[in-house]
Amino acid sequence: MYNIIKQAHSGIAYLALILLAIAAISAIIGYASKREFKESDRKIALFALIFTHIQLVLGLVLYFISPMVVSLGDAMKHPMMRLYALEHPLINIIAIVLITIGWSKHKRVVESDKKFKFFAIFYTLGLILILSRIPWGVWLG
Ligand code: HEM
Repeated sequence: MYNIIKQAHSGIAYLALILLAIAAISAIIGYASKREFKESDRKIALFALIFTHIQLVLGLVLYFISPMVVSLGDAMKHPMMRLYALEHPLINIIAIVLITIGWSKHKRVVESDKKFKFFAIFYTLGLILILSRIPWGVWLG
């Protein structure tokens, strides 16, 4: 069970990051070029939202079953343990909250430039936060 969830969390991470990056970069370009917000823009942002939420659910389950997650007291002594037990979960939850705020805000406006602006700000911030706390060496190493 642990291995299946860990592999799913590890594999879906690629999809979530690629979708988030496409959504954030195309929102920045869309805002800068003042183009119209299209259905394809909404879809890519929606899929980025869905996959980051799947990561949240899998991550929450992992947090309670993973042998990599030790008590916070013990985790503080070692950077890698601190990453798994505190920094990765906490920063990613904040990032996913920001991404969700961006999604909700875009729905409340009709102007294309405002929609792009919300995605450019909240999705980019979320992406940067997530990238800052990935266990890169373990994941890709
Ligand atoms: C979009 C958000 C997230 C992404 C992209 C992401 C990505 C990753 C990646 C790439 C790994 C390393 C996997 C490996 O070693 O093969 C990992 C591990 C882990 N993640 Fe996440 N994660 C996200 C959110 C979360 C959240 C919100 C939590 C907890 C609430 C969480 C908990 C964990 C745990 C506990 C591990 C260690 C699993 C283990 O090796 O036993 N993740 N995550």
